[in-house]
Amino acid sequence: MAKAGVFAIRDVGSLVDRAGEEGAELKRAVGRTQLTAMGVGAIIGTGIFVVIGKGAGIAGPAVILSFVLAAVACVFSALSYAELASSIPVSGSAYTYTYATLGELVAWVIGWDLILEYGVSVAGIAIGWGGNLNAFLDAAFGVALPDAIAKSPEDGGVFNLPAVVVVLAITFLLVRGVSESARVNLVMVGIKLAVLVFFIVVAFANFSTANFQPFAPAGADGVTAAAAIIFFAYIGFDAVSTGSEEARNPARDLPWAIIGSLVICTVFYVLTTVGALGIASPDQMKDSDAPLAAALDQGAGMSWAAGILALGAVVAITSVVLVIFYGQTRIFFAMCRDGLLPRRMATVNQRYGTPARLTITLGVLISILAALIPLGTIVELVNIGTLFAFVVVNIGVIVLRRTRPDMPRPYRVPWSPVLPLIGVGFAVYLMSDLPLDTWIRFGVWLLAGLLIYGLYGYRHSLLRTGGDR
Ligand code: ALA
Repeated sequence: MAKAGVFAIRDVGSLVDRAGEEGAELKRAVGRTQLTAMGVGAIIGTGIFVVIGKGAGIAGPAVILSFVLAAVACVFSALSYAELASSIPVSGSAYTYTYATLGELVAWVIGWDLILEYGVSVAGIAIGWGGNLNAFLDAAFGVALPDAIAKSPEDGGVFNLPAVVVVLAITFLLVRGVSESARVNLVMVGIKLAVLVFFIVVAFANFSTANFQPFAPAGADGVTAAAAIIFFAYIGFDAVSTGSEEARNPARDLPWAIIGSLVICTVFYVLTTVGALGIASPDQMKDSDAPLAAALDQGAGMSWAAGILALGAVVAITSVVLVIFYGQTRIFFAMCRDGLLPRRMATVNQRYGTPARLTITLGVLISILAALIPLGTIVELVNIGTLFAFVVVNIGVIVLRRTRPDMPRPYRVPWSPVLPLIGVGFAVYLMSDLPLDTWIRFGVWLLAGLLIYGLYGYRHSLLRTGGDR
């Protein structure tokens, strides 16, 4: 069965069994609609409301193509996520899949990478939330929080209070239970889609083609570079798979929810971007903290609409914080349960049926990050971490097809290994367009992870201590 050493592989059957152990069992309370809403809740947020401006600054109106390119890049990996999520429906997403395919060391690396992707992005998203809240307060009431309590030290403040508040509020919601959180999420997703429809309708009613010239001032390179940034807007569909242990019918619902949420978001993004460029120039959006609101305000001269949009962005980003944070707790939960991180953290609170201790610990750590670290470099760092996870997941599908050909696969990626390999190609392509600094930070993070594995995880792993049998 299990091989010893750092390449030891978790048995898929034991993974699914362990998930059902007494005291470590999460409630199976989430259905298909809620799962899809989790995807949409994780996907539509800071990317379309904020990062779109940076993308337009890099690629010009051709940022529309960047959105399409990033979506296409995601589709192939989404299929691989769907296959693995439906065949291995336990907590932990790419981390768990890797444990069952490429072995413990690679699984640890990916789990550690996902802590960066999810945990750090929650802090960054929360900062974006605070910025949008301030923009709304300014638009609606003419008052904004002073910089001292609204920005990180590097951005000229002392600490970011709104970001801390949103992280702690979401921590509370997650501790109280997933089905409640998912229901709240459903309402927020409805609101965010309504706000984007509102934007699209207003923008198309005031549409002009004047801003579409020149279409691609930075050429094809600009389109790709913007896609590597805009990719952030699509992160989140994999968060659906982190909730597979709580899905009522994972085999049927997971692939549907992962791919469905990606398609819904792509349609909204393309329409929103075309609409934005129909009322504002890339220059009017590129440096704004709330580019869509700026497009309505400065481009179309409709400040009332900008106020509504800023409020919508606050709601939209709240649900992103919720789902990504949820994903982070579940990945961490799986890593603790496997002994790679302290096992005591992975106990499920009997009253709420959630990993409460873990959630609160993460909430506190993330809120400290959110209070003190600026948003600036986070998007690039999160993107490189996520693209790296995509590479591993695609390879995982190919490996598992060979090592476990008979395993039940409720959903299968068509034409494997061709489509997973295309997924790898797209991920590497976008990674190669990120700055050297980002690569260095990512390398340092991975090295720190290897050190922790060597000092703790390697010795406490259940697979190695025999607790897995
Ligand atoms: N896709 C998520 C967002 O745009 C992370 O906020």
